[in-house]
Amino acid sequence: MKNGYERFVRPLLFSIDPETAHHLTLSLLRAASVVDLSPFLKSFQPPANPKNLFGLNFPNPIGLAAGLDKNGMAIPAWAALGFGFIEIGTVTAKAQAGNPKPRIFRFPEQTALINRLGFNNDGADAIAYRFDKLRRSGRWPGHCRIGINIGKSMTTPIERATDDYLYSFGRLHSFADYVVLNVSSPNTPGLRELQGADVLSRLLVAIGEKNSTARKPIVVKIAPDLGPGELEQIISVCEANRVSGIIATNTTLDHSAIPSARDQKGGLSGTPLRERSTALVRAITARSTIPVIASGGIVDAGSAREKIEAGAQLLQIYTGLIYRGPGLLREIAAALP
Ligand SMILES: Cc1cc2nc3c(=O)[nH]c(=O)nc-3n(C[C@H](O)[C@H](O)[C@H](O)COP(=O)(O)O)c2cc1C
Repeated sequence: MKNGYERFVRPLLFSIDPETAHHLTLSLLRAASVVDLSPFLKSFQPPANPKNLFGLNFPNPIGLAAGLDKNGMAIPAWAALGFGFIEIGTVTAKAQAGNPKPRIFRFPEQTALINRLGFNNDGADAIAYRFDKLRRSGRWPGHCRIGINIGKSMTTPIERATDDYLYSFGRLHSFADYVVLNVSSPNTPGLRELQGADVLSRLLVAIGEKNSTARKPIVVKIAPDLGPGELEQIISVCEANRVSGIIATNTTLDHSAIPSARDQKGGLSGTPLRERSTALVRAITARSTIPVIASGGIVDAGSAREKIEAGAQLLQIYTGLIYRGPGLLREIAAALP
């Protein structure tokens, strides 16, 4: 049976262009963030189901995946909806506009999206300023955890990528409970090369040095399109550098689930990604004790349970929220141990 969002809100949002619908929703949530929303949004909030991971207390294991609130515009509203953690970003060192529009596409029959946004964001300086203001205002949420996901600016050559990550890390780590190194978005040319053992190792050593006093948990977000050998190497590098967690996975370049006449360039998310991303969660947890945050095709209770059974400690949702609305949080919560 369809929930209220699916019956009344989604048809309205889906009648307009995906990126316009995104901006509209985010503007409403941003406006709502200046008042205390908890009493109104209580009906969406999942029950407490605390989880301790990387030395952090997560009030429940359901998180907002990176990319929905790239600029950290609506943190109090996400917290009021009941997310156990909120991942802001991807943030890059320089502000950038991203790829030309249109760049988000819906595939309702597949419960999927394709995007090629290309890290459109306000840049580390502006976002640090926004976070500082939010903190001073007293509206920074105390009960849920905040992750900050950082990536490489489009104009920074891949050989200089580390400098870019170091800059954003320096500007933003003090606001983060954990920091994610995104080396897996398919829409920044060359970014996925950073998953190679040597380059990833250099990036992790450099971040490790900069993190020696702050000691924030460092998490690496990986692509679903890795061969077994590549995954093996990434796990070894993450273990050697005492990475706190792995997010499996980002969007996929495998578009075989999408009819070729409607296909678009970019990363595919939602149901077609589900199995592939669960297989990666399973492969990592079978081989390593590094905690895994699962992301990819969590759109209902069954797909959420599947990730936990594959060994994931925490879950993140994006496409599921677009299709199922905030009622999805309670639906997932009811299915978790
Ligand atoms: C429109 C869109 C934008 C995204 N932007 C980012 C991003 O900036 N950084 C990132 O790490 N992941 C980004 N993602 C990937 C999501 O965080 C998530 O890992 C992926 O969509 C798989 O989860 P899902 O199937 O629940 O959507 C984006 C996904 C979508 C659909």
